[in-house]
Amino acid sequence: MSDADDDGEFYGTMLLAVACMTAISFALFLLKETVAGEVEANLVYDPNYETRVLERIRPVGIAALPPAEGLAAESAGSAEAVPQPVAEKLTGPQVYNQACFACHGAGIGGAPKLGDGPDWAPRLAQGREVINEHVLLGYTGEQGYMPPKGGRIDLSDEEILAGLEYMLEQLP
Ligand code: HEC
Repeated sequence: MSDADDDGEFYGTMLLAVACMTAISFALFLLKETVAGEVEANLVYDPNYETRVLERIRPVGIAALPPAEGLAAESAGSAEAVPQPVAEKLTGPQVYNQACFACHGAGIGGAPKLGDGPDWAPRLAQGREVINEHVLLGYTGEQGYMPPKGGRIDLSDEEILAGLEYMLEQLP
């Protein structure tokens, strides 16, 4: 076989490879056009899109900070600063009704029932320290799971303990 024949064969193979790759590229291009075209055709432009997104990612609350000096000076004279109302503390019965009654009212999930002496006797025997800790931090006992602060971690320790006090006062 001469060198010229070798070259000819090489170019032939090369040409075939390039032709194949071009064909594949073209096929992929057509596929992309079909799929993307369909997706784009289904896209609907929503003019409220931005508003909806901003609404979804809106912070749940804003910090109530005292006005900056400049702002204070600006509004001076218009009105006296109104003192912010201090969040009122819940009373024992209120805490019980809001945070504990759901389980302890009827003894749901193994919770000791309100005013049920025998239910409470072994618990009282543990001592108040243990009980307080179980109520504030939560625990899993033999009967079931008592969530920290009955799930109301937004309430202060003081409020929760007032609720507990109320529960214990109902014992015979
Ligand atoms: C989701 C249900 C649920 C809520 C809400 C709940 N508890 Fe409980 N609590 C339980 C269960 C269940 C137990 C018993 C767990 C065990 O000993 O197995 C328990 C046990 C207790 C005990 C006994 C602790 C001990 O050491 O034996 C006290 C006291 C108590 N809860 C107080 C409260 C108070 C106060 C609240 C409200 C602030 C509250 N619980 C809200 C389910 C609840």
